Amino acid sequence: MDHFITFLALALVPCTWAATVQLTGQTVYLAGVSYYLPPSPVTTLQGNTALGRKALEEGLIPITVLNATDDTGYGHSDYQSAVSKFSTMDDVFTEAFGNTIYVQTKASTVANSTNSTVYTANVAANDAVPQGPYFMSSSGAVYEAWRLYTDFAGAFTETLIGDAEGTFSVLPANVPGQALAVAVPSRLYYTKSAEKPLAGEFAPATVIVPGIICTHQQLRTHFLCNVWSTLVLSFLGKLKTSQFANGEEATADWDDYHSPFNPRGDGYQDPSSSSSGPGAAAASYPWLDLTLGSDTGGSIRGPSEVQGLYGNRPSHDLVALDGTMPLSPPLDTSGFLTRDPVLWAEAAKALYLDNVTITHSYPKHIKLYDFPKKASQPGDDLLLDFITKVASYLGAKTTNYDIETSWNRSHPASANPSIDDYLNLTYPILIAKNQVDLVRKPLYDDYAAAHDGRKPAVDPVPLARWGFGDTFPESAVAEQNTKRTIFADWFASHGLSPNPDTCSDGILFYVGSQADVNYRNQYISAPVAPYGFSISRVSPFWGGPDLVLPIGQASYHSTITHHKEFLPVTVDIMAARGCDGMIFGLVQDLVKQGILKTSVAGNSNAGGGEVLFKRASQ
Ligand SMILES: *[C@@H]1O[C@H](CO)[C@@H](O)[C@H](O)[C@H]1NC(C)=O
Ligand SMILES: *[C@@H]1O[C@H](CO)[C@@H](O)[C@H](O)[C@H]1NC(C)=O
Ligand SMILES: *[C@@H]1O[C@H](CO)[C@@H](O)[C@H](O)[C@H]1NC(C)=O
Ligand SMILES: *[C@@H]1O[C@H](CO)[C@@H](O)[C@H](O)[C@H]1NC(C)=O
Ligand SMILES: *[C@@H]1O[C@H](CO)[C@@H](O)[C@H](O)[C@H]1NC(C)=O
Ligand SMILES: *[C@@H]1O[C@H](CO)[C@@H](O)[C@H](O)[C@H]1NC(C)=O
Repeated sequence: MDHFITFLALALVPCTWAATVQLTGQTVYLAGVSYYLPPSPVTTLQGNTALGRKALEEGLIPITVLNATDDTGYGHSDYQSAVSKFSTMDDVFTEAFGNTIYVQTKASTVANSTNSTVYTANVAANDAVPQGPYFMSSSGAVYEAWRLYTDFAGAFTETLIGDAEGTFSVLPANVPGQALAVAVPSRLYYTKSAEKPLAGEFAPATVIVPGIICTHQQLRTHFLCNVWSTLVLSFLGKLKTSQFANGEEATADWDDYHSPFNPRGDGYQDPSSSSSGPGAAAASYPWLDLTLGSDTGGSIRGPSEVQGLYGNRPSHDLVALDGTMPLSPPLDTSGFLTRDPVLWAEAAKALYLDNVTITHSYPKHIKLYDFPKKASQPGDDLLLDFITKVASYLGAKTTNYDIETSWNRSHPASANPSIDDYLNLTYPILIAKNQVDLVRKPLYDDYAAAHDGRKPAVDPVPLARWGFGDTFPESAVAEQNTKRTIFADWFASHGLSPNPDTCSDGILFYVGSQADVNYRNQYISAPVAPYGFSISRVSPFWGGPDLVLPIGQASYHSTITHHKEFLPVTVDIMAARGCDGMIFGLVQDLVKQGILKTSVAGNSNAGGGEVLFKRASQ
């Protein structure tokens, strides 16, 4: 994909020579913290001459803009309550902005604060700026403060800044010792509205786009990118994906980029793929709320499971995908990875638009696939406790569900009696042959045309998968799609069926992760095609939802740190096709019941803490 994008970018460079100097912003230090200031000011303050004089004397000064809460005056307690609110909710504000306070008032009010210099001005609503931290120049220009955070998980390929017109450019700023910095605007600049439902409590609900979804050129025009830029808030950059969205193992398979770092446990576990950057970033950075990934055979679910995140593989066709790099269109989906289950459900409305309705009427039957019967390994207690609580909340009965037994009893007459044999090659044939047509062919053709017939370098995993596909005739695609459809119809009547009252007749849970180790410093065998059937293939083949819910963590003994460490425990939840909104409703209610909790960024998904392995630079 990289070679492809580079080639496109070269072709699109306009053949004109700009004669004007274009400002790209500036970086400053304040109390040991780096900030980026965008090139254009948000306003120019002229209402208060004393503040103007101060800025003229001192040059660039940090200020806090506040609103007077009423017309009776602005005192120290107002200031203190604002500062304590800002410090809690914002990733950018620090008390270093609090030495100079600029209060926007409706009338000329008296303001005071023992420890700060307070300036007031009667500001018309149209001229007011959002409350929060800013920098003011000697000419009175007021700039937003974007805090520069480091990408210590190595999750980004590129960090971006957007302007008011929706144009994106590369962040022209960095911090010492890092390959990339990320510029994060204050959440205080954003106010919740019908158009921006995620602002306010979640703002700026930073959305990160992985490389496979939006390229620079596409950021303005791409369907998904537009949805996000209007409904959600700021794009901070593009995240790493394994090559062409194929499953790759950290270090071993990643020839082109270095795999991002999973922050959990010893910091040396594989982040899973293909949405590796979206998973590692959402698990590492408290200032980042939401990332976007794609899932063909587990590319959202895998990173969510191993990093203890909420992640949704939507029902197929409910979320548009135009412009996304295809792996296999009948299986491809796109969804979010996040620590926050409430934000997740809110953001889903922006993702699915009219295709989701959050409902609160639930099935009374829970199917458990391969769950522990009693607690014998670390994490079993959490899994059993979770199911007990959910069953009790729903008043539901639980039964053990074995898809193989069910298939043996009721499979369609035309189908192989062994589901493992029947669907063994469906996934590798569909992804390989579809991607060869849709990606390899145009890539190779374009590259050869531009480079005297040469082939581009491609990682071993996509090469092995494409090569496997080449050993089958074109007719294999239709044959596997027929098997997939026969399975889908069978599962929709024997697995999870629609219900007029509760959307789905049941809910199916399986264990997503249970502190499973997959060290990134291992030599592994050469890649083979991803054949085989498992529970995680059900959603891709049948088209129903499969969402990951983190429920806690369990311990293991690390061969890296030689110490007890903790990794996430997660469950996957499925319901009838199209019942994504019922699952989101249930998630909201389980949060209210205290059965599900917000996952935390850092060493532990349950408790946060310092990440053990932070990359200094590329
Ligand atoms: C502002 O606070 C200072 C210090 O507490 C006090 O001396 C002064 O009278 C106050 N001014 C107003 C207008 O409240
Ligand atoms: C003012 O600052 C001093 C020194 O930082 C601090 O001890 C004092 O508590 C502050 N006063 C108020 C009212 O916040
Ligand atoms: C601050 O005051 C301005 C002008 O009165 C208003 O437009 C803005 O909505 C206020 N912001 C908040 C957060 O109250
Ligand atoms: C909603 O679903 C329909 C039918 O599958 C699809 O055509 C449409 O693109 C979807 N809308 C969005 C916003 O994803
Ligand atoms: C299902 O049927 C297959 C093929 O007949 C057999 O190999 C397998 O053991 C059966 N599995 C179960 C769980 O009954
Ligand atoms: C699946 O296919 C692979 C590769 O052809 C083969 O090695 C394996 O035995 C097959 N497994 C089943 C269950 O059919």
